[in-house]
Amino acid sequence: MLQPAHEYYAVLQRDYATRIRQLVPKYDELVRCTVDALRQRSPRTVLDIGSGDGSMSQVVLEALPEVRLTAVDASPAMSAEAGRQLERFGKRATVVRADILHFEPEEPFDAVFSNLVLHNIPFPEKRQLLGTIAGRLRDGGLFLWGDLIRHPDPVVQRRLVSERRAFALSEGCPEDIVEWNFRKESGDDYPFTTVKAAEALKRAGFARADLVWQHDTFALFLAEAH
Ligand SMILES: C[S@@+](CC[C@H](N)C(=O)[O-])C[C@H]1O[C@@H](n2cnc3c(N)ncnc32)[C@H](O)[C@@H]1O
Repeated sequence: MLQPAHEYYAVLQRDYATRIRQLVPKYDELVRCTVDALRQRSPRTVLDIGSGDGSMSQVVLEALPEVRLTAVDASPAMSAEAGRQLERFGKRATVVRADILHFEPEEPFDAVFSNLVLHNIPFPEKRQLLGTIAGRLRDGGLFLWGDLIRHPDPVVQRRLVSERRAFALSEGCPEDIVEWNFRKESGDDYPFTTVKAAEALKRAGFARADLVWQHDTFALFLAEAH
């Protein structure tokens, strides 16, 4: 992960549960859609790419009592917090501090999810990573990819960003964090449009890639490995 993102996530981690809901208006709905889709498939092994402070991993571990989950995150601050939050699950949860681009699991997974992470990764590396994810899933395995997206029409994109900025400020997010977040999104992040994301999933070798949820500049894709 690049240095500016490391610094940003170290700051965000301090009040993560509050900040993420100010910066991502329908965060809880996005998480719920992902967890519901996982629950319908009853996977036994799950990988959480970019687990942050581990709060979403916890929801998954609680919703699917049979699951063994691996939570990978590159940020030392986030990963340390995930370690604390997931300790109570014992052997069901493994926390790994690693850049996902260099993570080498020993076994394939039944399902992989990644929420609000892959926009940090430049396009060529991201396309390659999608191929790696497809290859690390068992046949028929599920990949749930929730992420920041960019609207293809710049006028619409500007309106969506300005609405999100107003929402974050009205919810009490400090101005410096709001500025930092939107500077990062417009300069240091690599969000696909929904069309490009679906194409990238298909090219990566997924048999199916569907857009299953979308709100302002966020979307969730459900992709199935062969
Ligand atoms: C906005 S947080 C999302 C956390 C969590 N998935 C959630 O939905 O609340 C993004 C996380 O992605 C992690 N991240 C970004 N790039 C990464 C990479 N290349 N490898 C592993 N983790 C990464 C960051 O450290 C950060 O914790």
